[in-house]
Amino acid sequence: MSLATTLYVLGLVAVAVVAYFLYASFVFGAGYQPTPARVVRRMLDLAEVRPGDTVYDLGAGTGAIVFAAARTYGARVVGVEVEPLRVLILRLRLWWGGPRDRVTFVWGNIFEVDLRPARIVAVFLWPGAMERLRPRFESQLSPGARVVSHWHPVPGWIPEVADSELRVYFYRWPAAQGGDSSTDGSEARIPPPPPAR
Ligand SMILES: C[S@@+](CC[C@H](N)C(=O)[O-])C[C@H]1O[C@@H](n2cnc3c(N)ncnc32)[C@H](O)[C@@H]1O
Repeated sequence: MSLATTLYVLGLVAVAVVAYFLYASFVFGAGYQPTPARVVRRMLDLAEVRPGDTVYDLGAGTGAIVFAAARTYGARVVGVEVEPLRVLILRLRLWWGGPRDRVTFVWGNIFEVDLRPARIVAVFLWPGAMERLRPRFESQLSPGARVVSHWHPVPGWIPEVADSELRVYFYRWPAAQGGDSSTDGSEARIPPPPPAR
């Protein structure tokens, strides 16, 4: 094989691997895009994450939310991820100096995971996945649990805070209930005006 052919084949393989890494898990509910650090901070601050809280990151990617929540906020974190290469990266990161006593990874499907132990759920997923997660949130989260989502809101829920700049939506269960079918989950409940004097 000539050098040109070898380079061509290697290029094709590289493109295929990158495309696989970014897009393969679309079939499960979202492709890969790490949550930017500024957004992660905003999400975890809004969700009032405290040491000892149990945070679930549904679709843990390569760990932007998981490691910040465990290291900076002292939370116990469960990261659920379906794509095996990312699971490997997550486990290597944890093994390489991560807070092993506070982080657990589940190689599995977010639509099958038991959410009852979660105090806080963090997500950065696509709209179809949000739609499918909502009934699971409603049947499994305990009162006072918090859900924080980047980019896509929880359809039919009403956020306590909607940060339109960073596209972060924060919900408290069960106060988030009450939207009708037209509520796309991005509009915060507007407080009633003070009574006229
Ligand atoms: C946009 S990334 C989120 C990144 C991550 N939360 C972070 O902090 O950077 C979405 C992730 O969800 C994963 N994912 C998509 N559908 C899933 C499913 N059904 N079960 C588990 N993980 C899933 C994808 O593989 C991808 O890594």
